[in-house]
Amino acid sequence: MNDIDVLLQEHRRFEPDDAFRAQANISAAEYSEAMADPERFWADEAAKLEWMSTWERVLEWQPPRAKWFTGGKINVSVNCVDRHIRSARRNKAALVFEGEPGDTRTLTYWDLYVQVNKFANVLRSLGVRKGDRVAIYLPLIPEAVISMLACARIGAIHSVVFGGFSPESLSDRINDSACKVLVTADGGYRRGSVVPLKRNADKALEGTPSIEHVVVVQRRPGAPGDEAGADMRDGRDKWWHRLMRHAPQWCEPEEMDAEDPLFILYTSGTTGKPKGIVHTTAGYLVGAMTSTHIVFDLKEDDVFWCTADVGWVTGHTYLTYGPMANGATCVMYEGAPDWPEKDRFWDLCEKYGVTILYTAPTAIRAFMKWGDQWPAKHDLSRLRLLGSVGEPINPEAWMWYREHIGGNRCPIVDTWWQTETGSIAISPLPGITATTPGSATNPMPGFTVALLDAQGKEIEVGGGLLAIMKPWPSMLRTIWGDDQRYVDTYFSKWPNRPDVYFPGDGAKRDEDGYFWILGRVDDVLNVAGHRIGTMEVESALVEHPAVAEAAVVGRAHDLKGQALAAFVTLREGYAESPALRDELRDFVAQKIGAIARPDDVLFSADLPKTRSGKIMRRLLRDIAEGRALGDTTTLADPNVVNSLKETYEAQET
Ligand code: WT7
Repeated sequence: MNDIDVLLQEHRRFEPDDAFRAQANISAAEYSEAMADPERFWADEAAKLEWMSTWERVLEWQPPRAKWFTGGKINVSVNCVDRHIRSARRNKAALVFEGEPGDTRTLTYWDLYVQVNKFANVLRSLGVRKGDRVAIYLPLIPEAVISMLACARIGAIHSVVFGGFSPESLSDRINDSACKVLVTADGGYRRGSVVPLKRNADKALEGTPSIEHVVVVQRRPGAPGDEAGADMRDGRDKWWHRLMRHAPQWCEPEEMDAEDPLFILYTSGTTGKPKGIVHTTAGYLVGAMTSTHIVFDLKEDDVFWCTADVGWVTGHTYLTYGPMANGATCVMYEGAPDWPEKDRFWDLCEKYGVTILYTAPTAIRAFMKWGDQWPAKHDLSRLRLLGSVGEPINPEAWMWYREHIGGNRCPIVDTWWQTETGSIAISPLPGITATTPGSATNPMPGFTVALLDAQGKEIEVGGGLLAIMKPWPSMLRTIWGDDQRYVDTYFSKWPNRPDVYFPGDGAKRDEDGYFWILGRVDDVLNVAGHRIGTMEVESALVEHPAVAEAAVVGRAHDLKGQALAAFVTLREGYAESPALRDELRDFVAQKIGAIARPDDVLFSADLPKTRSGKIMRRLLRDIAEGRALGDTTTLADPNVVNSLKETYEAQET
């Protein structure tokens, strides 16, 4: 059975219960109203923020260019922090942090306000001005959120780089947007060991001429400059705590234009070069604030835990900006879910009384595999809502999540969105939508989503390409330094519809109009909820002296959703061996980061190509999936693919 068939057979439905419906943050009537007039809906939402001067026009749309709330002036940090210290929220916990080793810290909104102001002053004292770029390469610790908000306060554009990325990935990202300052740490904890972030940063900094200063958070106990590699370079490197000690506690917030950039976040595409997705100030904040409020039904006393790292967009929108704009209490956990035991998440949920949990299918599948006994050891009765994001969730995992984590009581929101959309675009609304395992259900209020065929014709029921028909406030505005790529990637799929956004996903729509996301239709993979471009991995592989040619495809994987399978032809003089296979896998991990380490490496004398020399990935996917081969008639040499299939099946990669 293929994916569509499996999903078509899913008929379980879960209606919101009456009690939940009665207290929900959005009603069916409000949803219909929003859908009837999206611009008005967004304007009403934007009016909930604190503006320095109000906007003149809600939307200016000249496809593919959208400007939202033009003429408006606003500061994001004022909305995420200052607003809350003027009320009883002043003493409310903003961040409840637990490090992997078990150290804890709670920052109230007042504490956060002080820290953000001070660090904003630190950045200014280091010469950072409005529009300058600041790179952030940190573990999942409060300083990550503080740094982001401090940048927002002074109008600097942050570019957070996931701490699991390699030095080379870090320097590529720093250079692409010419960052002036880097914020990093002397280490972070993962599965009991220390990730040497500063040492990685030092390697990256060998080739980053734009960096003037490096601020180093002391995460490790003991003397500075120990074996974590934090040897501080004079003049360039400075300890966070020393800079903060004397920094003034008030920093005048910069008056930002609604359309000024807020941050850049790099994500994989179909070329070897990651794209710097640019988000702007007001539209992004409105999308983050509104979606957090209605999808997670956030209430004043909720304890919200989004398990994502700040290195991904989920950590930007639902760990930082969305919850903070709503004055919420967020749990932040630095480490691995199975450290020191496989119940760490459930231990944290119980200990902090988490009411809303937002995590990824890949994690849920791992929990399922580890067994029901781990959550069963803990009191999870405070949970009232569960969320899923990052990849399609299979109905089995959905049901397990509902039963073993949600006690058959919590609604589940399967939220579809992307780095580019900035905020959730398709999701159930917990007080309105009847959910069904595996479906992200309906567009969010204010979003116009459709399924189109290759010609741009709308499909009412059946399979097709996902499309967003109208602009929305939190949409990306461009790709940093490569505006043409923005136009080509997102607004060129249907030449007859240059106003329609193409997300790169395939989906199905059922008789009730529900969307079922099937996954990427381009050469982008989703491995454990992380986006990886096949071209990036291929470019890394061919940099190895032994590799002549490489093709990378995805195959289904029980836990990770997709796994990477690399087909490699070697240069003259190199012989295939298990040692070389491991070496190549490590090589990619070193070049890009551990998330890109290929699961399989298959050596082959040749790759299946068309007569014009194009590698036929479709056939490689058939091989990697262990399927019968599709049409091979366009191949230059059909024998190549048959022998490749035999080798693949014989070899335990
Ligand atoms: C891609 C975006 C958005 C936060 C994390 C990933 C896939 C995302 C779902 C979902 C099925 C999903 C899509 C999308 N995806 N959420 N609920 N169901 N697929 O952000 O790295 O920008 O990746 O993740 O394929 O295009 P990202």
